Amino acid sequence: EKAGFDHFMLKEIHEQPKAYRDTMGARLNDEGTAVQLPELKLTAEQIKGISRIHIVACGTAYHAGLVGKNMIEQLARIPVETDVASEYRYRSPIITKDTLVIVVSQSGETADTLAALREAKRNGAHVLAITNVVGSSVAREADSVIVTWAGPEIAVASTKAYTSQLIAFSLFSLFLAQTLGTQTTEAITETITAMKQLPEQVESILARGDEIKAYAEEIAKHKDLFFIGRGVDYAVALEGSLKLKEISYIHSEAYPAGELKHGTLALIEEGVPVIALAVQEDLFEKTVSNVKEVKARGAHVLGLGQEGHEELPKAVDQVFSIPRTVSLLTPALSVVPLQLLAYYASLALGHDVDKPRNLAKSVTVE
Ligand code: F6R
Repeated sequence: EKAGFDHFMLKEIHEQPKAYRDTMGARLNDEGTAVQLPELKLTAEQIKGISRIHIVACGTAYHAGLVGKNMIEQLARIPVETDVASEYRYRSPIITKDTLVIVVSQSGETADTLAALREAKRNGAHVLAITNVVGSSVAREADSVIVTWAGPEIAVASTKAYTSQLIAFSLFSLFLAQTLGTQTTEAITETITAMKQLPEQVESILARGDEIKAYAEEIAKHKDLFFIGRGVDYAVALEGSLKLKEISYIHSEAYPAGELKHGTLALIEEGVPVIALAVQEDLFEKTVSNVKEVKARGAHVLGLGQEGHEELPKAVDQVFSIPRTVSLLTPALSVVPLQLLAYYASLALGHDVDKPRNLAKSVTVE
C-alpha cells in the first residue's frame, strides 16, 4: 500500500506531480489561456461585488491560505485577510454580505474550521471551501467547493494536500483576475504555462532527494534552527518550520527576514543553522542583507533560491536551487525540499514519521 516507499509521507511527497496535474485537470482550457471553474456558484456580477476576502484554516492549510492571500491580492487586487480558524471564530470578525469567506481543509472535518464556516454563513457571506474530501462536512455545508484532487493523505504531516491547495488558490486567483479584468490575457497565459510545467519541475527536485538527506543528517544534530524569508517565501518558511517540528521534534522558528533584528537575532550564535529562502527575486537583495546579518553572528546558512542565480552561492554556505517559475508559483516548488528535509531529519532521529507523537490526522475536537 506504500507502493514501494518506506513511509506514507515519502509516497505522498512523490505523488505531488500527479496531484498538481489532477487538481489543474479540466480546470484549464485546451488553449492554456483561461481557467474554468464551473463549481463556483458565484455569477460574474457577484464576483464583481466582492469587497474583501477572508481565508480561514488551521495548521498547514492556514499556511496555504497565507500564500493564497498573496496570490489573490497580486492577481485580483481584492483585500484578503488570512486567519487561524480558532482565532477567527472568537474575534467577532467583520463579515458582510460582500465578504467572500474561503475555508481550507484537507479533511473537511476540522472542528474550528467548520465552526468558522458556520459563523460566516450565519452572517450571510458566500463560503467557498477548498477541500480534499468530497463528502466531508465542510464540502457539504459550503456554498461552493473547489476539490483538491490530491487523493487520500494518510501521513499525519500534510504534504500533497498543502501543495494541491496552492494549485487551487492559483486557479481561483486567476479566475478572479479573468472575471475582474485585473490581468491581461497574456499575463494569465504566462502563469498558466508556468503552472503546467510545475509537475515536471517537482520531479526534478525529487530526483535530488539525496542532497537534502545529507543536509537533514546535519540538521538532526541541532536543537534549534531558523527559517527566514520575505513575502511568499516567509509563508513557505512557516510551513517548512511546522513540518520539521511536527515529525522531527527539532525546534525551529520561521521569521520574516526583515524582523530578525527586532529580537530574534539575539538567538543566532556560532553554528546555528539558518535556512534562508531567497526565492523571490524582486526581494533578493533585501533577503541577502539579512543573510549577512546572521552570517556575521556565525550562523551556518543554507540558501534556497532559483536556478541560475549567481549571487546566492556567494552569500551563503550551501545552496539548494529550485527550477525557475513565475514569482507567485514558487511556493509550489520551494516547499518540496523542506518537506524532504523534515522527512529525512525525522528518519535520521528514528522517529515515527507517519505518526508523530501527540498528533492526530483529523482534529475534530476544539
Ligand atoms: C500539519 C497538518 C495540520 C493540518 C491541520 C488542518 O502537517 O497536517 O496542521 O493541516 O490540522 O487540517 P485540515 O486541513 O484537515 O483541516
